[in-house]
Amino acid sequence: IQRIAVLTSGGDAPGMNAALRAVVLAADHYGIEVIAFRHGYQGLLDNEYLTMKPKDVLHVLQYSGTIIKSARCQRFKEESAATEAAANLEALNIDALVIIGGDGSFRGADHLANHWQGQIIGVPGTIDNDLYGTDATIGYATAVTIAMDALDKIRDTADAMDRVFIVEVMGREAGFIGLGSATAAGAERVVLPELQKDKPLTVSALVKHIQRVKEIRGEGSYVMVLSEHQWPGGAVALAEQLDAEYDLPCRPCLLGHIQRGGPPAPADRILASELGVHAIELILQGKHRVMAGMRANQCVDVPLRDTWEKKNPLASNLLRIQHEIFNPVKKNPRMN
Ligand code: F6P
Repeated sequence: IQRIAVLTSGGDAPGMNAALRAVVLAADHYGIEVIAFRHGYQGLLDNEYLTMKPKDVLHVLQYSGTIIKSARCQRFKEESAATEAAANLEALNIDALVIIGGDGSFRGADHLANHWQGQIIGVPGTIDNDLYGTDATIGYATAVTIAMDALDKIRDTADAMDRVFIVEVMGREAGFIGLGSATAAGAERVVLPELQKDKPLTVSALVKHIQRVKEIRGEGSYVMVLSEHQWPGGAVALAEQLDAEYDLPCRPCLLGHIQRGGPPAPADRILASELGVHAIELILQGKHRVMAGMRANQCVDVPLRDTWEKKNPLASNLLRIQHEIFNPVKKNPRMN
């Protein structure tokens, strides 16, 4: 192995820079040259790249975003895009490609692997935590911390005015950020994609729950965490409905892309550092079409396809605690 390439792709995640740094430093340690494509797969198609030396990744691990830029590249789904990318990689004498990104980026990698002979290694970089085969993805810890901090702040004002708040968090089709932040901040209710399938939220059930919590506590706030895409019109529409139809003063708050910025949490920097190095060591072991993951504190490799075809479940114990012990969704007979 003489020369490898790296790119960051899809929604940026805190810790991507730390992963890039680890890839560059490990490659340098093993005497491998590194180039980075800018703007993800788009840069691979446009041949937009730069050589990466250890000095280029000095002091980047404390920043979110990605110094080599990221993008969502719809064109990469096409057959012709993968063949063009393969030709570019051949022309640059690349032996292996490291892709730091989420499931969409890994699907792109798999597509490319059908057209290119080099080794392909994924590094899980997404705030959503929705990749099978690793206990956590790079970026998730930071996103949960940011959501928790925001929920704590909202609690101050919500409590002062005995208000209901609906806070919308990211996560795409996964409820990890929702469940993690709701538990960490003691939210009264959490609505998650995984649970919506069997038992979708209804306004009347929500109103009953709000009233029950208020009855038990006498006064105070009610904070609900709503995973994105789980209510038509999101937190704003739901808050308006509660206010207008049920006379429940309610305020919405959309955390949005704030969840992807600021200093990466220590857990993300550490995970990214380990997985970046692991990616290079997997290349040296001859591995191909795998993701570098972390399970029970052990570096592992997982077939790339498994990462999106299989699913890590939400922590069932957290769900039980949230829904049965802290803020029972069903009426607790002992309370009545
Ligand atoms: O996948 C990461 C993520 O932040 C999701 O949580 C969110 O749904 C999506 O990206 C937002 O995408 P964009 O940054 O393209 O608006």
